[in-house]
Amino acid sequence: MTAVAVVTGANRGIGLHTAEQLASRGFQVVVTARSAASAETTAAGIRQSGGLALPYVLNVQDSGEVADFARWLNQHLGRVDILVNNAGVFLDDGVSLLDLDDETLMITLKTNLLGPIYLCRALVPMMLARNYGRVVNLSSGYGALNDMGPYIAAYRISKAGLNALTAELAAELVGTGVKVNSVCPGWVRTDMGGPQASRDPVEAAADVVWAATLDDDGPSGAFLRYRADIPW
Ligand SMILES: NC(=O)c1ccc[n+]([C@@H]2O[C@H](COP(=O)([O-])OP(=O)(O)OC[C@H]3O[C@@H](n4cnc5c(N)ncnc54)[C@H](OP(=O)(O)O)[C@@H]3O)[C@@H](O)[C@H]2O)c1
Repeated sequence: MTAVAVVTGANRGIGLHTAEQLASRGFQVVVTARSAASAETTAAGIRQSGGLALPYVLNVQDSGEVADFARWLNQHLGRVDILVNNAGVFLDDGVSLLDLDDETLMITLKTNLLGPIYLCRALVPMMLARNYGRVVNLSSGYGALNDMGPYIAAYRISKAGLNALTAELAAELVGTGVKVNSVCPGWVRTDMGGPQASRDPVEAAADVVWAATLDDDGPSGAFLRYRADIPW
């Protein structure tokens, strides 16, 4: 039975390259995206390159959709080996906490923090059922508590919360075959990172894939960049 990898926000950026690279390693990749057309386009591209990919429409902000997704996975594939919580938004660059509007705050927290919580809650039980799993949460140096700075309040708080999810869940999963880590991909040339960013998205995705395929002696509950620990 082919191992299954789920990638959220897999239609572009780091998520797209992560999905492609996992497929090239032989995983059955579930390409989730908010739009049906982009999920199908991405999955079709992977299949044309000889990989295994299924599209699934998922807005990570919706806990009901995530619960339905877990049921669909159980019914159609029967296992989940890898979950990459990649979907994210960066909406408040340069905005002070004191000026943050409700909509920006809620979209940021729902996408970057609540979505990954919903996905872990729904899919980790399937991993535990087989005593194997790798969860990768796409975090950011902006979420490091030791390096907080001004004017990106919602994004920083969402990624700090995501790191807390990593630490909490990893602590709960000690002694099991399921590992959970946060990965900061660096500053990456995507729609989010912009054209001036220093890092190629293919390289960033390779680091995500590395964390998603750790050996049994690999870390869990770590905050990683360039495959090494960084301060929380
Ligand atoms: N790029 C960087 O320099 C950088 C640095 C540090 C961390 N990161 C993190 O890395 C991850 C990927 O970033 P990226 O640079 O690849 O960003 P990106 O190019 O902007 O892509 C973001 C992805 O998230 C999806 N998404 C947004 N809201 C969603 C929702 N509610 N439900 C499902 N999918 C949703 C987008 O889908 P649509 O196409 O539908 O919008 C898109 O597929 C993010 O978590 C980001 O915070 C990036």
